[in-house]
Formats: sequence, C-alpha cells, structure tokens
Amino acid sequence: MNATTTSGRSAPSSKSGVAIVAKDLGLAWAIRQGTPVVALEGVSCAFAPGEVTAIIGPSGCGKSTLLQIVRGFLEPGTGSIAYLGPDGSARSAPSMATVWQSFNLFPWLTVEENAGFGLELAGVAKAERQRRVREALAAVDLAGFESKLPRQLSGGMRQRVGLARALVMNPDVLLLDEPFGALDAQTRLVLQEQLARLVESTRKTAILVTHSIEEAILLADKVLVMTARPGRIAAEIKVDIPRPRGHATTGHAEYVALFEQIYGLLRDEVERAMRSEGS
Ligand SMILES: Nc1ncnc2c1ncn2[C@@H]1O[C@H](COP(=O)(O)OP(=O)(O)OP(=O)(O)O)[C@@H](O)[C@H]1O
Ligand SMILES: [Mg+2]
Repeated sequence: MNATTTSGRSAPSSKSGVAIVAKDLGLAWAIRQGTPVVALEGVSCAFAPGEVTAIIGPSGCGKSTLLQIVRGFLEPGTGSIAYLGPDGSARSAPSMATVWQSFNLFPWLTVEENAGFGLELAGVAKAERQRRVREALAAVDLAGFESKLPRQLSGGMRQRVGLARALVMNPDVLLLDEPFGALDAQTRLVLQEQLARLVESTRKTAILVTHSIEEAILLADKVLVMTARPGRIAAEIKVDIPRPRGHATTGHAEYVALFEQIYGLLRDEVERAMRSEGS
C-alpha cells in the first residue's frame, strides 16, 4: 500500500513534494471611507503536495483573497505562508498557475494563442509551445478548436481554454477559483467529471475554491469550510471516498453523510453572511 493512497490516487512525486502552510493569516482591505474590511482573520491551514483541497464558504468570506495570498499576489496583513519540503525544511515557492473566477481570455487571440500565452511570456520556442498547447487542449477535449476565437466558443469551452492555459504551464500547484461558477448546471457537471479525471491522472497539488458542496466532495481530498467574513477556517473535513469519482458517487451513503456535514456547517455561516449584508 505504498504507491496508492486510501483515496485511490497514486502517491505524489517527490518533485512537487512541497507543502504550502498558511499560519495565522489576516488581511484587511483598506477602503476609502470608513473602517477597513477585515477579509481574513487567523487563517491557518496546510495544502499537502499531490492533494486537492477544496475551499468552500459564504460569498465574500475571503476565499479569493486567501487564494491571492497563497499565489503570492497579495501580502497578508498578519501571519505568513511557508513552503515546506518532506523533511519540514523551508523551500522556495512551487510554481503555480491559476484558473480565475471569470474566463479572462483575450478576445482577439485564438484558442491556441490564448492557451499558449503564458508559455510565450516565458520565452518557450514556437514548436515546443505548439506541442504543449496541443497536448493541453486535447486534455480538455478541445482538439480541433485551435484556430477559433473565444466568441466562437460556448461558455464551457471558454472555461476549458482557461484550464488548458493553466495546465500547459505544468505548474506544481493548480489554483482554481470557482472555475465553473459561470456555467449552466449540465455543462458544469460534465466539466466537474473531466476535472476529476484530470486531477486523478496528473496528481497535481490543487486548491479549488467553490460554492458547490458536490464539486468539493467529487474533487477534493480535503474540504476547508470557511466562516462568514471575517473568514476563518470553521472545519477541515477529509474526503475518503474512493476514486474515480463521478456523478454516480452522489448516490453513495458516504457522499450523502459528507454533504450533510458540510451543508450543516455552511448553512449557519451563509445565514450569518446574509444578515450582515442586510444590516
Ligand atoms: N480589492 C478590494 N478592495 C476592497 N475590498 C475588497 C477587495 N477585494 C475583496 N474585497 C472585500 O473583501 C471581502 C472578501 O472578498 P473575496 O473576494 O476574497 O471573497 P470571496 O469569498 O472570494 O467571495 P465570492 O464567493 O463572492 O467570490 C469582501 O467583503 C470583499 O468585498
Ligand atoms: Mg471569490
């Protein structure tokens, strides 16, 4: 039982064996008038190498803010982020790529150019770029659409270009901020299953922000439930359901129990967030 974890995923490779550890993070957004908005307070959590961690919490609780701090785009007001190797020693930051909440594609660039944008910035030669882009587009079922423009694609296809653009960088860590939030329910379901296959086969460290309990359980090894703003970690829940997981998983007793547990925690927090919005 050394190559395979209980969840059916192979053990992570040593190359990407860097854990991201957040300690006591706090961040307040300064606003023009009035007191600063405290987005995060005392957030401590760890993202293990080769694992998928889902972050779920009420709207405005600081999920995207947390992701931006992890990515290194935002300095926390308090606390710190550390990157630790398997022996617990400090390491440099792993490479990361993000799929943002909105599609963020360049409308004037083709699918292939959009997907290869990061590689071009990194100075990767054209032939190599083309090879890697085609591979990434095939992984998200977009082979044959290389020369289309974003406006010629459906929402689901556009988001898959966003995913390919991140995958093509072959990052150690994939950050996904509500990647399917803007899609219709059916497209979302199909993409969730595709993403589940992808994380199962690539064994990447991934952090997935989502509003969907189903998405969190289908994709994650661990779910972090956040409180209403100021965002704190309310609970850390392990998902031990065997992989591969898919829509059929939602009928399993383990799934239903986890769903209830997460929903119970979230319902109180969402109600609290709604009350503070109304006040
Ligand atoms: N650039 C900013 N300037 C000021 N306040 C901000 C900024 N970005 C976010 N905030 C505030 O910080 C809080 C947390 O925002 P954040 O976007 O991290 O929440 P979220 O959990 O990702 O929400 P959602 O689920 O709606 O995406 C919110 O109250 C938001 O209004
Ligand atoms: Mg957000």
